[in-house]
Amino acid sequence: MTASYPAIRLRRTRAHAWSRALHREHVLTPAELIWPLFVTEGDGVEQPIASLPGVSRWSVDGIVVRAKEAVELGIPCLALFPNTQPERRSEKGEEALNPDNLMCRAIRAIKDACGNDIGVLTDVALDPYTSHGQDGLIDEEGYVLNDATMEMLVKQALNQANAGADIIAPSDMMDGRVGAIRSALEEGNHANVQVMAYAAKYASAFYGPFRDAVGSGGLLKGDKKSYQMDPANSDEALREVALDIAEGADSVMVKPGLPYLDIVRRVKERFEVPVFAYQVSGEYAMIEAAAAAGAGDRDALVLETLLAFRRAGCSGVLTYHAAHAARLLNG
Ligand code: PBG
Repeated sequence: MTASYPAIRLRRTRAHAWSRALHREHVLTPAELIWPLFVTEGDGVEQPIASLPGVSRWSVDGIVVRAKEAVELGIPCLALFPNTQPERRSEKGEEALNPDNLMCRAIRAIKDACGNDIGVLTDVALDPYTSHGQDGLIDEEGYVLNDATMEMLVKQALNQANAGADIIAPSDMMDGRVGAIRSALEEGNHANVQVMAYAAKYASAFYGPFRDAVGSGGLLKGDKKSYQMDPANSDEALREVALDIAEGADSVMVKPGLPYLDIVRRVKERFEVPVFAYQVSGEYAMIEAAAAAGAGDRDALVLETLLAFRRAGCSGVLTYHAAHAARLLNG
C-alpha cells in the first residue's frame, strides 16, 4: 500500500508568521487612506453623529486638529464635507459659491496649518447647500437639470480651488462635468489641481448616515436615481469611467465600496489609471453595529475590509475608519 499525500501543500507557506509575511501579495498602509471629515459652524464645537457612532462634525478649529493628527499618522489626504446652516441653504444652493463658506474656511485653515504636508479633497455637488437635498438644480417636477447644474458645479469647483483645494472630486454624476471643470481649472490658473471623478457612483441605500451628517437627509424629496447609477449595472460603469478619463480625470472613484468591488476590479483591469473606492457611511455603520453587537472584532473587520479594497485593485480608500486604521497599522 502506497502512502497517500497531497502533491502540493498550499498550507506549507502559511505555517509560520514569517512565511505568511514573505508571501503576502497586497499591503495596506496609512498612505492608502483618505479621511472624510464633516465641518460645522462655531468654535470648539464637536457634534457626534448618531447614525455614525464614533464620527463627529467639527468646527474649523477642530478640523485643523484632525488634519495635524492625520499628518502624524501618515494619512496623505482629507476629504471635507460641510454641514451648512439651514438658513444658508436655498433652492439653487448658491452658498456653494460663497468664497467664505464653511468649506472654503476649512480648506484655508488646513492649508495655513499644514501646507503641503497633507492634501485636501473637496466634494463638488450641491446637496449640502440645496433646500431640497438634491445634488443639482431642479425643474418643476423635481428633475435634476444636467447642463444648468454643471454651470454651478464649475463655479463651485473654482471656488474650492481658489481656497486651496488640492483634489476636486465631483460627486454629482452630471454628464460632461469633468471636462467642464478641468478646462475651468486650467483657465483659472489651477493646472496642478487634480480631479478625482466619482466616476461610478451608484444610487445606493448605503448613504443614509452621510445625509444625516451633512443635514440633507431630512430635506431630500424623492431619490437620486435619475443621475446616480443603477446597482444592477456594470458595463455602464466602464462607460462612465472611460468618459471621465477622456475628459481629463486624474483618478476615478467607485462608490459605494465593498458591495462594488467587482466594479473596482473591472475598472482596474480595463483602464491604466489610479482607482479609488469610497467605503461609505452605511458600510462604516454596519461594521460598528456588528462590533457593538458582538458579531465581530472591530479592529479585525476594519483592517480586513480595507485590505480587500487593495486586493481588488484600489490605489486608496476613503474611509471614516482612516484614523483608527492608521493607528492600528502604525502599531
Ligand atoms: C454627495 C455625496 C454623498 C456621499 C458623498 N458625496 C451622498 C449622496 O450622493 O447622496 C455619500 C458618502 C457616504 O455615504 O459616506 N453628492
